[in-house]
Amino acid sequence: METTIIDSLNRKFKGTSPSEKLAYFLDVYRDRIGLSSSFGVEDQVLTDMVSKIDNNARIFTLDTGRLHPETYDVMDATNLKYNRKIEVFFPDTSSIQELYKTQGINGHYESLEKRKNCCYVRKIEPLQRALKGLDVWITGLRADQSITRTEVPLVEYDDNFKVIKVNPLIDWSEDDVWNYIKENNVPYNKLHDQGFPSIGCAPCTRAVKDGEDIRSGRWWWEDPEHKECGLHKK
Ligand code: ADX
Ligand code: SF4
Repeated sequence: METTIIDSLNRKFKGTSPSEKLAYFLDVYRDRIGLSSSFGVEDQVLTDMVSKIDNNARIFTLDTGRLHPETYDVMDATNLKYNRKIEVFFPDTSSIQELYKTQGINGHYESLEKRKNCCYVRKIEPLQRALKGLDVWITGLRADQSITRTEVPLVEYDDNFKVIKVNPLIDWSEDDVWNYIKENNVPYNKLHDQGFPSIGCAPCTRAVKDGEDIRSGRWWWEDPEHKECGLHKK
C-alpha cells in the first residue's frame, strides 16, 4: 500500500477511539482482516470491541505449544463469553520435531540464534499461515510497552508479512486498558494479577517487580534492544 494512503489513514483517525478505528477497518476489509490474540490484556480489550462490532470477524491465536495453563483458561473463558471458537494456529509438526532434534526442548536459553529459531518455528511461520489471504492484521501493540515500540504508528505497512498492520491501542496507557477490562467485565489472564504485565510463552516469561519495565519479564536474559521475537520488527 502506498505510504500516502497509510499517512492519510493515520491522520484521519487521530483522536478517534479504538472502536471507531476498528469499525472502519472491519467494515472496509470484511473477510480480509484478522485480529491476532495472545490473550494478553490488550488483546482481550480488542476481542471485546471486535466482537461487539461483528462477532463473525476473524480472531486467531498462535498456540506455540509452550503457553501457560492460565492462558488456556482465559482462552476457554473468552470462547464461552463471546460464544465462538477463536481460531488456533499450531506450529508445523515436522519443523517442531526438527527443532527438538537440533536444539533440544529449551535450547532457546543458549543463544539468541537458538531463541530466534524457536520463535520462528512456533510463532513466525504459523503467523505467515494465519495471515495468508488477509490484507489487514490487527494487533494489540501499545507504544509505551517498550523502547522497541515507541515509534509504532496506528497504521503501517508490514514489509515482513506483506499486510497492512493496524494497532488500535497504540496510544492507550496501561490504565486505559485496565479501566476498559473492568468496565466491560472482560475475562483476563490471571497471571496479570501475579506480576505478569506481558505474557508470552511460559519458559520465556516471568513476573516483574513494581516499577520494572512492562516487558522486562520477557526473555529477561537478553538485551532490551533485542526483545522482539520477530512478530513485530523494530
Ligand atoms: S511479542 O512479539 O512480544 O510476543 P506481545 O506479547 O507484546 O508480542 O504481543 C503484541 C501483539 O502481538 C499482541 O497484541 C498480538 O496481537 C500479537 N501476538 C503476540 N503473541 C501472539 C500469539 N501467541 N498469538 C497471536 N497473536 C500474538
Ligand atoms: Fe520459543 Fe520462547 Fe520464542 Fe516461545 S517465546 S517461541 S518458547 S523462544
